[in-house]
Amino acid sequence: MNCHLFNSRKCFPLKLEQTLYAASMDLIQTLVFFFFLCHLVYGHSQMDRAQELMSRYPLIDGHNDLALQLRILHNNRLSQIDLHNITNVATDISRLQAGYVQTQMFAVYVLCAAQQKDAVRLTLEQIDVVRRMCTESQEFYLATSAQDLTSSAMRHKIACLISIEGGHSIDSSLPALRMFYQLGVRSMAITHTCNTPWAESSSKIYNVFKRPKDGLTYFGKAVVEEMNRLGMIVDLSHSSWNTALAVLNHSKAPVIFSHSSSYAICNHSRNVPDWLLHRLKDNRGLIMVNLHSNFISCRNEANMSCVADHFDHIKKTIGADSIGIGGDFEGASRFPQGLEDVSKYPVLIQALLERNWTENELADVLRLNFLRMFKEVERVRDHLIMDRPSEMQITMEEVQNPCRLVLRRPRLHDQKPFSRAEQRSQHLFILTLFPLLFQLFSIVEL
Ligand SMILES: *[C@@H]1O[C@H](CO)[C@@H](O)[C@H](O)[C@H]1NC(C)=O
Ligand SMILES: *[C@@H]1O[C@H](CO)[C@@H](O)[C@H](O)[C@H]1NC(C)=O
Ligand SMILES: *[C@@H]1O[C@H](CO)[C@@H](O)[C@H](O)[C@H]1NC(C)=O
Ligand SMILES: *[C@@H]1O[C@H](CO)[C@@H](O)[C@H](O)[C@H]1NC(C)=O
Ligand SMILES: *[C@@H]1O[C@H](CO)[C@@H](O)[C@H](O)[C@H]1NC(C)=O
Ligand SMILES: [Zn+2]
Repeated sequence: MNCHLFNSRKCFPLKLEQTLYAASMDLIQTLVFFFFLCHLVYGHSQMDRAQELMSRYPLIDGHNDLALQLRILHNNRLSQIDLHNITNVATDISRLQAGYVQTQMFAVYVLCAAQQKDAVRLTLEQIDVVRRMCTESQEFYLATSAQDLTSSAMRHKIACLISIEGGHSIDSSLPALRMFYQLGVRSMAITHTCNTPWAESSSKIYNVFKRPKDGLTYFGKAVVEEMNRLGMIVDLSHSSWNTALAVLNHSKAPVIFSHSSSYAICNHSRNVPDWLLHRLKDNRGLIMVNLHSNFISCRNEANMSCVADHFDHIKKTIGADSIGIGGDFEGASRFPQGLEDVSKYPVLIQALLERNWTENELADVLRLNFLRMFKEVERVRDHLIMDRPSEMQITMEEVQNPCRLVLRRPRLHDQKPFSRAEQRSQHLFILTLFPLLFQLFSIVEL
């Protein structure tokens, strides 16, 4: 018998245990091989799936503070930077493209310290820098409608939406709000970290315009109505729960939390509790999950698993069709490992695929929910087309601004014939707080 032609075991039979041992080693080797192969192929294909999905449904992200960094780092001198590659920030054209970010809401944020001072001018300057960035650069497109987001995607451009972060930017003036709309602003957060004379912030770091009960004043309701009439998206991130509830009760259009996460997972005051999520669902609004570590894990460090927990919890509570993503890059300094800049969004989508989110659910979260919400906001605007611009004015007593110049026809009993700036000395104490507030700026999330 030629052993070379036949199975050697037939020629030299082994003992039974040796046979079993050899067989089990074969099996283990095979299993180990397939385990690694599966891991490699599966792990790889989940990232491929994420990227393939994002190329079909590129991200609409709810919040980015690049404009603030342009001011802080470059004094808004765009001529001095290469928008494709901006150092010391997490956002630039190269990384937006790598991250499949197709639409970015850019915040035109000014510090609360500017409230009652030059907030309106600073907001105008931030709008200017976003408009310049988004019109002077070929890769960007300055968008002002839901249709713009779709058409810019077809032309492979990154759409910019301009969003005001904090009602202090309008200095309690509906005409100012309307003019911001004319400049392309399509969203406004009702507050930032300061109360306004008409709405309450989730933060207590500024000691101004305290109101224990009234989350949204009569004038505040007029702001919401005017935003509905204009077709400006109302943003409740940074507002107190009282204010958020009052706005949800009052708004005719869906609203968003442009960059907030789940309070049930991390009980930070910037996050949204489940009872409020249910009201948001009734309103057909969106919560766009914030990735800032402190809102994800309530600590300075966070990981992808904790980010996915927020998405899972909100999906379980109100469904995937109320969810979006609002990364908050440039507005916060600490982000979870693996999510350090805007190029990393595919890793997040991969993590959600691994949590068994369907491609339909993720297409909604990435893009379709926002488009649906924005179109509804526009539809409400179209229904209100016959309404005239609101002429509601806040009272001097409410606004308490010593810098306001009041121009009115002289009346007989007026001491001064033409105009006067109303001074309220008790509010001058704000001025003395500015150095303190500036220090606070460096530690708070924007
Ligand atoms: C970005 O610029 C820095 C220096 O400013 C350079 O080292 C780096 O290679 C550039 N990156 C890309 C992707 O061009
Ligand atoms: C909102 O509406 C509900 C009933 O729909 C009411 O119970 C609640 O008091 C209202 N809240 C505010 C803040 O207006
Ligand atoms: C948040 O939860 C932690 C424990 O999980 C608790 O110590 C803390 O008091 C809570 N904070 C608030 C504002 O509820
Ligand atoms: C992620 O962080 C949480 C704590 O926030 C921890 O319990 C968990 O083990 C971490 N997961 C991984 C994969 O590191
Ligand atoms: C995802 O689904 C698979 C197959 O149904 C299951 O084995 C796995 O445990 C699920 N994973 C998660 C995180 O739910
Ligand atoms: Zn913010």
